[in-house]
Amino acid sequence: MTVREALGKAIETLTLKRFEEAALEAELLLRHLLGFSRVELHLRLEDSLSAEQTQELDQLIQRRLGHEPIAYITGHREFFGLDFHISCDTLVPRPETELLVEKALELAGNRTLLAIADVGTGCGAIAVALAVHLPQAEVYAVDISAAALEVAAFNCERHQVANRVHLLRGDLLQPFACPGLDLVLANLPYVNDREMGELSDEVRLFEPAPALSGRPDGLRQIGRLLAQVEDKLRPGGAVLLEISPGQRAAVVDLAGRYFPGAAVKVLPDLSGDDRVVVIET
Ligand SMILES: C[S@@+](CC[C@H](N)C(=O)[O-])C[C@H]1O[C@@H](n2cnc3c(N)ncnc32)[C@H](O)[C@@H]1O
Repeated sequence: MTVREALGKAIETLTLKRFEEAALEAELLLRHLLGFSRVELHLRLEDSLSAEQTQELDQLIQRRLGHEPIAYITGHREFFGLDFHISCDTLVPRPETELLVEKALELAGNRTLLAIADVGTGCGAIAVALAVHLPQAEVYAVDISAAALEVAAFNCERHQVANRVHLLRGDLLQPFACPGLDLVLANLPYVNDREMGELSDEVRLFEPAPALSGRPDGLRQIGRLLAQVEDKLRPGGAVLLEISPGQRAAVVDLAGRYFPGAAVKVLPDLSGDDRVVVIET
């Protein structure tokens, strides 16, 4: 079978099972199998697949038909223009989370030295993106999951920022002894108990529940973080939190309670949904 035939067959199988992005996903699976770039795939459509490769492709397609996200099958996902290794121990970074990074870069501006914490770092996407774009920053990336931190360590090495991204295992800001942080960013679990039962198979069956559930109302970890952060922030520091749109009022209220004098803003994502709460002290 040629690459062209295999691609056509994969597209047909996924389309029949109503996968909306069948063509894109089939291409990603074939590229993963063959180790090809997008251009290479299209230049080598007449190459032949070995029997072993054909069998492997069938297995990859079966995994996708079982609703495993493409990112777990291929083991990587792009975030902020950088390629990240991910595993079943880490959340798949979402495009809307790029807004946290954009806002942090804007706040960082031209400041010379910065201490930044990424709380709940997962695969390290936020921390690594910031370290790559802010050569003057020291980034502290915290997670409660040792397995997630191993993935983050791989990504720090891969993007050559391991000397400035300090990986810490712990509960929220517990690893930090005293004030000294200029920026605290967090995409903590924020799905409430009701929403946990309504998640798609892709998310529910494959993404780690501790990375998703902010039980019971989705705000458990965000509330705990806000209670801790005041003591760890330098005067003039800022906190950026990713939220679910329905949490806007509750999080703004919490922010006002812990930081009475601060400017609190809510930024929409590209779909127009409230996504990031910015607290500037
Ligand atoms: C929603 S995921 C975000 C991962 C990554 N920052 C991203 O945006 O793709 C939340 C992460 O927070 C971590 N986490 C959950 N509770 C935590 C806690 N109490 N302290 C530190 N990390 C925690 C989870 O292990 C998970 O990696």
